[in-house]
Amino acid sequence: MTENYYWAKIINLEEVEDLNEKDTLELEIELDDGRPLSIILAKDNTQESGWLAFENICTHDSESLGDGEIDFKSHTVKCPRHGAIFDILKGDAMTLPAVAPIRVFSVKADEGALYFHIPSKI
Ligand code: FES
Repeated sequence: MTENYYWAKIINLEEVEDLNEKDTLELEIELDDGRPLSIILAKDNTQESGWLAFENICTHDSESLGDGEIDFKSHTVKCPRHGAIFDILKGDAMTLPAVAPIRVFSVKADEGALYFHIPSKI
């Protein structure tokens, strides 16, 4: 079965114009159904849109990944609590103690805003 996706607005581009390459921003997004979603937005010119985004929660024990160490060469983030490493482009958990992937999102810039691609049933 295929999953439906929609583009959700993250933020206006003017609000992130001061970010430099590899800067990150923690954002709380409201989904179409009203639920909140915490994400980390990072400026990364190796990506087609110039941005990447991933969910701001470790799948091991729900730690925020916002204080985690991001490596933009390997595109990984290390959880600050127990050290699990995740691929921030694919979401894969690469090291224990995490085994489940994090959610990652495609990002596009359009009409002065950034949007991310999100499954309808997240
Ligand atoms: S909470 Fe992230 S590795 Fe344990």
